[in-house]
Parts: sequence; C-alpha cells; structure tokens
Amino acid sequence: MSGINYSEKIPNNVSLATDRALQRALEHWQPKFIDWWKGMGPTDFQAADVYLRTAVSVDAEGWAQYGAVKMPEYRWGIFLADAVAQRKIGFGDAMGQPVWQQVPGEYRSTLRRLIVTQGDTEPASVEQQRLLGHTCPSLYDLRNLFQVNVEEGRHLWAMVYLLHAYFGRDGREEAEELLQRHSGDADKPRILTTFNEPISDWLSFYCFTYFTDRDGKYQLKSLAESGFDPLSRTCRFMLTEEAHHMFVGETGIGRVVKRTLEVMKELGTDDPARIRAHGAVDLGLLQKYLNFWCSSSLDLFGNEISSNSAANFANGLKGRPDETSYEDHVLREATFQLKTPQGEENVPMLNAVNEVMRESYLKDCEIGLKRWNRVIERAGHGAFALRLPSTRFRRSIGIWAGQPADPQGNVVAKEVYEKNLANWIPTDEDRTFVKSLMQRVAEPGKIAGWVAPPDRGINNLPVEYEYVKLH
Ligand SMILES: [Fe+2]
Ligand SMILES: [Fe+2]
Repeated sequence: MSGINYSEKIPNNVSLATDRALQRALEHWQPKFIDWWKGMGPTDFQAADVYLRTAVSVDAEGWAQYGAVKMPEYRWGIFLADAVAQRKIGFGDAMGQPVWQQVPGEYRSTLRRLIVTQGDTEPASVEQQRLLGHTCPSLYDLRNLFQVNVEEGRHLWAMVYLLHAYFGRDGREEAEELLQRHSGDADKPRILTTFNEPISDWLSFYCFTYFTDRDGKYQLKSLAESGFDPLSRTCRFMLTEEAHHMFVGETGIGRVVKRTLEVMKELGTDDPARIRAHGAVDLGLLQKYLNFWCSSSLDLFGNEISSNSAANFANGLKGRPDETSYEDHVLREATFQLKTPQGEENVPMLNAVNEVMRESYLKDCEIGLKRWNRVIERAGHGAFALRLPSTRFRRSIGIWAGQPADPQGNVVAKEVYEKNLANWIPTDEDRTFVKSLMQRVAEPGKIAGWVAPPDRGINNLPVEYEYVKLH
C-alpha cells in the first residue's frame, strides 16, 4: 500500500517531495485550479459544508474517508493504483514486452493527445453542471452532485500530473489550456461536442451520469490497459471513484421510475397528461431522455472503422475494456462483421476496436434497464418497458451519421424520420415541462415530488441526514 502524505500541499502517493521541480510546477498550477473551481465550479455553494468522500490512500480502507468539507478546501490529490510487479503489455504488436515507465518517443504526441482529450472531459462536466445545485430535489442529491463534481476535479488533477511529470514543457502548456477551455465557450470550447451542452435539469444529470459518465468509465478501462504504466495506474484508481458516478445515474433514473409508478397507481391511469399534471415524469418522456443521452454518448466512441484506434491498439497505447476477457490480443488475423447502411461488410478487427468498445458499453448500459424494467413489469405496466435506442439512431459520427434510422434501427424515409423525431427525443415542450419540475428542495429528509427518496443514505447515514449544511 502507498500512503498519502497530508502534510504536503498536494496529497499524493507518487513521492512528489522527491522531485522538487515537478512539485514546484504542480504547486504553481494548484492556485490556478482553485481559481477555476471558484469561477467555473458549482455556483453559490462554495461556503456550504458538504458531506464528502476524500481519498486518503488507494487501499480499501483509505480511499473513502467521509467528512464535512467546504468544496474549495477539498483535498484534491494525485493517486496512482499500486504498481503490478513485472507488468507486461497485454495487447498489440508489443504484447508480452515490459510496460513503459517513460513515454516512448515515437508515441509521445499520441499519448499526450489521449491524455488531454480524457483530461478535458473532467472539468468540462463540472462546468456543464454548475447551475444544477439551485434546483436540487434533495440535500442527498445535492451532496451526490458535489461528490461527482469534486471527483471530476480530481480526475483533472490525475491527467495534469501525467502531463507535468512525463511530457515536459508541452505537457505544462496543455495543463494550462485545460483550465482555459470552457464548456460551451464560443472561442475556446471543450474538445468533445457532448461536453459543451449545459446540463440544466436533474433528469438530464441522471442520464448524463448513467450514459456519458459510463462512456468515461469505458475510456478509462481501455486506458487502464495501456502499456504506458503511469497512465494505466492512474486510470485504475479513477475507476474506483467512477463507480459512484454510475451509481448516481442508475439509482437516480430508478427513483424517477419508482415515483412515476406510484403516481400512476395513485391516479389509476397511464395517461401522460395526467401524470404530468400531477408533477411526475411519464415513462414515455423518460424514454425520450434515454434516447437522447444514449445516442449522444454513443458518438463518443468515434467512427466504427478507425485507423487511429487500430494504431493505438497495435502500438499498445489503448486496449479494449477488460482486455484479458478476450482470447486474441493481437487482432492481426481477426475480422469483424460490420452492418453498414450499404449492407454487411467484413472489416479487419483491428480497425473495428471502437465498435467493439461500443458494444461492450451497451451491454453495461443494459444492466440498469433490466433492473428498471423489472420494477415496471411488477407494477403491471410491462407495455412501458424502457429500451436503449439502436446504435444507428441519431448518430452524428460514423457510418450511420445522418442516416434516418428510427430508435429500433430501421432506416425510414427522411420525412418519416423528421415527423417522428418529436416522439423519440425530448421536444422544447417536454424540456419546458421537465424544467418546471425543477424546484429546489433543501430541507433535510424532504424530497421533490417527481423522484422517489433513495433506499438508503450515504455511508450508512440516514436519508434524512443534513448532507449539505447551507448556512
Ligand atoms: Fe471523471
Ligand atoms: Fe465521472
């Protein structure tokens, strides 16, 4: 186990004190990060005491210490999962060779790009969610939002550490720019489109943590396989934190389903208008939100056929999530049967790594749907079973981009597609309604009417606990 030295300015388990130049560089970046947090992080809650989890070491006991913290005083640190002795590269053409402790010169710019792209999403999501606190459905939810936010801040630290420690001057410049780009900024937007859309309601927040954060989980899983060992160890520890973000999404949507079913039972109707009039989210509306967020998250995996991903895999930079679960780790012989708008096509497996990732991501997405659908079924509303949209639906990237496919994946006439889009994704009217539900509930134990209370509180505390003290 590697402990974290809290007497240092930057908590870390990477022996920062033994590298004065690196320590100074990061201590120089730290106040800029805090300024960014104060300017671009959650608005108006900087003085609140929030019951937060902080990592004090990477082992089972230490990585989740709980206590009340004012967010700007959160101990953001640098933690790598423990090194695996004699670790070897697990895929690609260099399979079986020792992993790299330094960046190989020929992969320098590619690795830097991978790290910057991942790093950019972390502060971006904090910026996207900065206004959400004002309309929290409960203090429990407010606390979860802030937990996700501070951890995304820590994930930025994780990537900035790699840039500073391994990429010299270029890396330091990239670290500055990570604080200069902002979500939705006209001049300096975040790198990926999805991360430039504001998240202004909690139904979107639950969907974001369910679908978009799960893309993050899959990206981290594939980077955790990397032959560049510091990146692998960084991502492995980030994944332990990421699990809570998935939990917020899955239980959040589950609680919406539960509340809606209660209202349907109470009113004895499945009429969406009456459910809405009663201040709940009808299941058809929830389905539209799932269609919207799932399809936009599917784009994050990139093109079905990608020579960049093929090179990253062949070179041992980025593997597949759960690489050890596959038999073939070289992929020089295998092919992949790809369904394209022109018909089936056999492509080299190496070029289809993005699609393989997308498929495993969707399998993970199915788990929550099964759980929610069981509850819907038990309530006697099986006809309203929720579904994931087809990977062909509403894509902006890849071979299905711009194709008029319905959520089941059937290609339909353009007019049919355009006419029906209002039935498939939220309309302005839908969003206005969801917005109308977003009324702040900030008394301990109280909860908004559109979502059920959680089954249990955080860290064995009761649901009624005052998770955020607003003063
Ligand atoms: Fe993250
Ligand atoms: Fe996350």
